Amino acid sequence: MNMIDIISKKRDNLTLTKEEIEFFINGYVKGLIPDYQVSSLLMAIFLNGLNDEETIYLTDSMLHSGEVMDLSKIEGIKADKHSTGGVGDKVSLVLGPIIASFGVKLAKMSGRGLGHTGGTLDKLESIPGFNINISGTRFINQVNTIGLAIVGQTQNLVPADKLLYALRDVTATVDSIPLIASSIMSKKLASGADIIVLDVKVGSGAFMKNIDDALKLSNLMVKIGKKFNKHVSCIITDMDEPLGLAIGNNLEVIEAVNTLKGNGPKDLLEVTMKIAAKILIKAKLYKTEKDANEAILEHINNGTALKKLKDMIAAQDGDNSPIFDTNLFPKSKYIYEVKSKKKGYITHMDALKLGVASMHMGAGRLKKEDPINFNVGIVLNKKTNDYVNINDTLCYLHMDKIDEDMIKEVYDAYTFGDKKVEFKTIFEEVD
Ligand code: URA
Repeated sequence: MNMIDIISKKRDNLTLTKEEIEFFINGYVKGLIPDYQVSSLLMAIFLNGLNDEETIYLTDSMLHSGEVMDLSKIEGIKADKHSTGGVGDKVSLVLGPIIASFGVKLAKMSGRGLGHTGGTLDKLESIPGFNINISGTRFINQVNTIGLAIVGQTQNLVPADKLLYALRDVTATVDSIPLIASSIMSKKLASGADIIVLDVKVGSGAFMKNIDDALKLSNLMVKIGKKFNKHVSCIITDMDEPLGLAIGNNLEVIEAVNTLKGNGPKDLLEVTMKIAAKILIKAKLYKTEKDANEAILEHINNGTALKKLKDMIAAQDGDNSPIFDTNLFPKSKYIYEVKSKKKGYITHMDALKLGVASMHMGAGRLKKEDPINFNVGIVLNKKTNDYVNINDTLCYLHMDKIDEDMIKEVYDAYTFGDKKVEFKTIFEEVD
């Protein structure tokens, strides 16, 4: 078997065998196959696709390219959640404490943000002292005692994805449904949870630009989950506008804390409750979504969910006093109000443009090694379908330096019109 034959086969739109897919993944991880050949195969896959069977073989090979987590020492039901990436997406910070307050365990490995999308690890590290690098034994003990832990991915979890993702990023081959499905599912399966809920984002700030593609990706990931005997469900949610109001690391933690205190934005609560209810029903704690929702709201109102967040922060060496009083979080030097120059309804706010603007302000990274400013970002004051008059505040920019280019970049993300538009936060569910 050799790589040239495998590339030519996919170039000619033929089906690869399990052995050929294993050969390419194992060879690449061992450093036996050069980047240029893998790039060429990735482009052939991008153009000609993979059928479901090939995607399952690819997921399996990637999953076994490194360590597979053994969560058997964690008692009870383990759940996991993943989002395909978005702007202002702080759902994990709200969801983890909620499900842990019901006794469902969340042993989560998260990633950092890159480009316009934020990462849960960066948000957590904006909490003074928070440690995302705890040992495997400490991780398991923490989940057994508190019910949740969120840490960085171990270096050896699905090394094939780390290599392939970096190569896809620079060869214009990220936006391929089978490549995204195998990338996400190999990591989720290697993380060892029993119940997995995937939040597939659709819109300007997401990889999936339309619902048809989001449905294809969701159906494929649910199918892969079944093959590996896991409960996988997907929800398809909007990422045309950012989720919630805050974009930027400690600003998003503050919003997550407020949501756990019962004062969160409606869309963030809606997505979080949908995922939490699915997990609680799959864990057989509730029979209907209505019952699960009532119980979730009770755990928010009586403070049991928030207590789990405080416990997790303390267990991971963080200072949880800003959770009691969010004014204690460090702040940016300036808060600049962006005012509307028009009157009318906001008909679109481009999540991609707002994500890029907040990255340019220092809240995100262009390259993996770039530093992050935890205190800067954007807090939205108006969202899609809100009516604004001239000079109404659209959003607040938390900046260390007033920069006219960034103010313009943010303003350009808004479109105004004289009628409301159709808008939904959650589009579909796929089980
Ligand atoms: N998220 C992933 O983990 N992988 C992809 O390929 C795309 C989004």
